[in-house]
Amino acid sequence: MSGRIITIKNNKGGVGKTFITAQLAHGLSLLEKKVLILTSDSQNNIFNYLLKGNKDFENGLKAEISKRKGEYFRLRENLYFLPLENSSFGSQFIKEIPNYLERMKKEYDYILIDSIPTLKIDNIFLENSDYIIIPAFCDEVTIEGILNLIGEIGKEKILSIVVNKFKSTEIQNYFLEQLKGVLENTTILFPDPIKQLSFIEKMLYNKKTIWEYSNKEATQVQESFYEIIKNIEMKNN
Ligand SMILES: Nc1ncnc2c1ncn2[C@@H]1O[C@H](COP(=O)(O)OP(=O)(O)OP(=O)(O)O)[C@@H](O)[C@H]1O
Ligand SMILES: [Mg+2]
Repeated sequence: MSGRIITIKNNKGGVGKTFITAQLAHGLSLLEKKVLILTSDSQNNIFNYLLKGNKDFENGLKAEISKRKGEYFRLRENLYFLPLENSSFGSQFIKEIPNYLERMKKEYDYILIDSIPTLKIDNIFLENSDYIIIPAFCDEVTIEGILNLIGEIGKEKILSIVVNKFKSTEIQNYFLEQLKGVLENTTILFPDPIKQLSFIEKMLYNKKTIWEYSNKEATQVQESFYEIIKNIEMKNN
């Protein structure tokens, strides 16, 4: 087996990186793929969105890399999470990340990395990723940030840009069209925007995923995520 690494990245906070990571990871695991979530964010918010039980841990990614002692949390069937202890990273740790990822690729079909807006170790994750997914919010600051990010990492690795927390206002529609224009002649997937919904707020509060609901609002959001999942699976077959 050689798993694929997918990093969910943008340069702005609160746009939905962790939410999107959780939905894609659970969606892939439901297709009977073995999925591991890693994070460069020692807040470990994945716990907040996916785990109802006890989230105490001592040994995370750092202990795993230095002593193979990481505590892997099973979040759902086929879905695992290795948290991060803190954000002080020695050069040895950073140097060992690629080897660790190579080892995990033999065990997991997909490794999803939930990142944070600014952090050097993300460069290591980005370099070692097969694909990058960028959450977007339709305002000027975020769109500018995304254009810069595309410039930095190049279009080749970017699998999708996902607009999240969308409200159909005049301004947001304007930026949505702008983004569409930028992506027109690329292979970057641009699914229907995910709306800002109180349903999603509640869902996250209850530590559930979009795949655990079947109401109309959920179905719409599922469609956007399924488009990405289908694309990931297609590339991998
Ligand atoms: N589509 C949505 N509708 C409603 N609320 C949302 C939606 N997406 C995200 N949220 C809420 O927005 C907040 C930020 O989401 P999330 O934690 O996924 O962002 P993030 O990019 O990971 O943030 P950070 O940069 O802090 O890691 C959360 O409180 C989450 O519940
Ligand atoms: Mg987050």
